[in-house]
Amino acid sequence: MRAKPGRFLTVEGIEGAGKSCNLECIQQFLRDAGHPILLTREPGGTDLGEEIRALLLGHKHHGMSVDSELLLMFAARAEHLAQKIKPALERGTWVLCDRFTDATYAYQGGGRGISPRRIAALEDWVQCGLHPDLTILLDLPVAQGRQRAARRSAPDRIERERSEFFERVRSAYLERARGEPKRIRVVDASAALPAVQAQIRRLMADYLAGEGA
Ligand code: TMP
Repeated sequence: MRAKPGRFLTVEGIEGAGKSCNLECIQQFLRDAGHPILLTREPGGTDLGEEIRALLLGHKHHGMSVDSELLLMFAARAEHLAQKIKPALERGTWVLCDRFTDATYAYQGGGRGISPRRIAALEDWVQCGLHPDLTILLDLPVAQGRQRAARRSAPDRIERERSEFFERVRSAYLERARGEPKRIRVVDASAALPAVQAQIRRLMADYLAGEGA
């Protein structure tokens, strides 16, 4: 008998939204509910993807064109889908991914100004209709996110962008959430961590109940 396909869950947000601790919380929640989990990230998730990540986020290629940046994101994604995401879903593993194509619409679309139509063309080509089942968007004001992110390691090539860039990223994320309210659930990430995690646990419990999972 074939395994019931897994679900594809993603977590998104601007810098400093608290993705890392909240991913741990979601992973634990799903494990407790008895689901096998693959936790992975974009750009990255495979050997080739991690090398592409280093090119995208390192400081060697500051003059990279916006189209090269977009295509590298999708090259990493194509590898990730082929090597990890699709095989995991097929064997019934739930995939929890730190960012996916909503980040491309937000960063390369909103942030860099690439038309959503061009992104959609690559999305159709690379994903062949595969989309996340549920996306948690951790939303908070840009200034607060930047303050939190500044306490961490040195900023990468994209984190060095100005606040206006992240305002556009945040707006693009929220616009996508308004367009797909059933899939993209917005969590107020400006609150203290226990309150954020309580929101996430409620939302996950609703999702699992709705899925009968
Ligand atoms: P992070 O996941 O460690 O926060 O860093 C990944 C960076 O890559 C972050 O600045 C967002 C950016 N990014 C894009 O610009 N487009 C994408 O499609 C993805 C997945 C990430």
